[in-house]
Amino acid sequence: MGSLQEEIKKRKTFGIISHPDAGKTTLTEKLLLFGGAIQTAGAVKSNKIKKTATSDFMEIERQRGISVATSVMAFNYKGTQINLLDTPGHKDFAEDTYRTLTAVDSVILVIDCANGVETQTEKLMEVCRMRNTPVIIFVNKMDREGKDPFDLMDELEQKLNIRVRPLTWPISMGFSFKGVYNIYKKSLNLFSANKTKIEEDVITINNLSDPQLENLIEERYAKKLKEDIELIEGVYEPFKREEYLKGQVAPVFFGSALNNFGVQELLETFIEIAPLPQPRFTDEKEIQPEMPKLSGFIFKIHANLDPRHRDRIAFLRICSGKFERNKFYHHVRLGKDFKFSNPTSFMAQDKSVIEEAYPGDVVGLYDTGNFKIGDTLTEGEKFMFKGIPNFSPELFKELINTDPLKSKQLEKGIQQLTDEGVAQLFTIQPGNRKIIGTVGELQFEVIKYRLEHEYGASCDFRSMNLFKACWITSDNTLKLNEFCNRKASYIATDKDENKVFLAESPWLLSTAQEDYPDITFHFTSEFKMEIAKQKNA
Ligand code: G4P
Repeated sequence: MGSLQEEIKKRKTFGIISHPDAGKTTLTEKLLLFGGAIQTAGAVKSNKIKKTATSDFMEIERQRGISVATSVMAFNYKGTQINLLDTPGHKDFAEDTYRTLTAVDSVILVIDCANGVETQTEKLMEVCRMRNTPVIIFVNKMDREGKDPFDLMDELEQKLNIRVRPLTWPISMGFSFKGVYNIYKKSLNLFSANKTKIEEDVITINNLSDPQLENLIEERYAKKLKEDIELIEGVYEPFKREEYLKGQVAPVFFGSALNNFGVQELLETFIEIAPLPQPRFTDEKEIQPEMPKLSGFIFKIHANLDPRHRDRIAFLRICSGKFERNKFYHHVRLGKDFKFSNPTSFMAQDKSVIEEAYPGDVVGLYDTGNFKIGDTLTEGEKFMFKGIPNFSPELFKELINTDPLKSKQLEKGIQQLTDEGVAQLFTIQPGNRKIIGTVGELQFEVIKYRLEHEYGASCDFRSMNLFKACWITSDNTLKLNEFCNRKASYIATDKDENKVFLAESPWLLSTAQEDYPDITFHFTSEFKMEIAKQKNA
């Protein structure tokens, strides 16, 4: 292994995001194929890979054919170590996706050329915009009839609130799709519907008046391409990498993931322009990857990767320094030191134990219940990483145990699933009533299914008419207690014993805020960092 600096320079960590069905899984598969991480080309139908292994760990996902789990795939391409963090496309798992986006340094956004910008695309991009995450856009399914590419560019700019800059441009589409012209390399990549080839046949031409052009594509397409490119050069400013890195402009590529078309071009540009592991903010200072001491945060926890074992894996994104096996690291929230004898890396399907890892890498840590999402590991320093919050949930149901003989299993299962971030758990007294809060309906089904299959417990849910759960804190204990007494049946505690107000309507929430100015109502859980630090100080 090289020096810390050299290792950092080799790494690029990113996520692919899209509205469901735009082609995220297909593109992921093709990138892994180019990276040599999997061998089966196109013969693998996009859903098959979903149904078998690489990106999906869970039985439930096989059944539903949607990406429930977020997983990590690492591969090498031309000397670059690429860490691809997969994100669930389904809207009900948006929170999982948001948290994964805190662990990447850039994203590739996949758009279906016929559907353009869809609801989920907009939401995911909002999260990227908040963090100024650099974005590359891949317009997929060019082998099908889609929207006019110029209209699509306008739509991207308007709905995603970002400037775009095409780096390739399609020559027709659908049945008559001829390929793409690479504006920067001045080369033609001619389309042939082929799901198995890996290499792309790229033809370099000197300029668009090269007479070869009309031999390669029909005259009318050549004419249209020249006009289009002239227009693009007139309308869009030249691509500047610094603007892309600041999240101000998104380069756009066209292709067809299903046909392996335009994917290599995307990957080549990605390794050239995408950012190296970036600094991250903590409550104390900015952490640069080159800092010699290890630091990182947990952005995902997954239980039972292997149903035969009660594994729980916490996914650590390394932010600075070098991670080493069997070395003690400081768990800041708990104020304790831990060492890890089997840290795992993820190379597509394979998990393997690693000796060391570097900034940008994601390491799987076997965990017996010490980690929660958002936790920080250091070499003894006491700072905590910011920006990996729980969001206040929007849907609430009471958990009803339907098999009293399995109460213990239910208790354990619900504790572990909520640690994973599948949902949030609130308890109301008297009676220890358990309220589950989620951002999507589907999570209730996932919980029910997993409780049954992984813990042998059975449950039902009783709907509750609540508007929001927000954490409440105050320096004025008297006022806080008064509020809690007055609202007793709407006060719950979360898993860390923090008080939570369950508001039935926006009106009740705003009157509570007006009546109790001494109380702070928190809508994300980041305030907890302060509390945990004070406890360990
Ligand atoms: P997702 O992960 O974003 O949800 O999308 P996924 O890759 O599963 O793709 C959704 C559908 O779009 C799949 O078809 C897939 O084959 C198809 N698709 C992906 N890329 C392209 C492309 O470049 N061109 C065309 N024409 N189709 C594409 P499906 O019918 O749902 O599944 P399958 O039975 O084909 O596997």
